Amino acid sequence: MNIKRIEKPVLQQLLDESALLTGEGVVEYEKYIKDYANAYMHADVAKDMNVLAYKVQSFSGNGDQALNWGVTNMEPVTVNGEYNITRGHFHLDRNQPEFYLCAAGEGYLIKWDGQDEVILERMTRGSLHWIEGKYAHRMVNTGKTTLRSLACWPKSAGHDYKAIEDQGFPVRLFDDNGEVKVVPVHD
Ligand SMILES: [Fe+2]
Repeated sequence: MNIKRIEKPVLQQLLDESALLTGEGVVEYEKYIKDYANAYMHADVAKDMNVLAYKVQSFSGNGDQALNWGVTNMEPVTVNGEYNITRGHFHLDRNQPEFYLCAAGEGYLIKWDGQDEVILERMTRGSLHWIEGKYAHRMVNTGKTTLRSLACWPKSAGHDYKAIEDQGFPVRLFDDNGEVKVVPVHD
């Protein structure tokens, strides 16, 4: 018998407003508005915005059957009135789902099946979101503070960002004098 007792967490998610993820193997990246300017309606404005949009921390487990864990921190910025959005993606494997858990802030999770079905789920501290594998998903920070969301998804799901870069999402969210206005995209 080999009993291993671990007193200090190997990985730790702070359960405060920071939702900071720490531990060996945690990786981070940042996206600035200019990095994905074409996702915004006013891409011409976005391309000059050297402004932090979001930061992601994640941990990837070992093996093909592993789960990933991550936290996305979205800043409360707008591009000509359009709220800060994540790039958004389908999973490369459309059968692989994901959970989101909002830790702080407020916004929306947009789920899109690639056809006519669009679901906007309000995100507030503690809201838990189940994302079936068929849905592309994108978060929108409609609040005045950082929107933080924890996520858990199969490592084998992969990310298909290109499909969204090519097609965009069918709705955009704008600040309309403090109200969230949902605008369908017509092409
Ligand atoms: Fe995902």
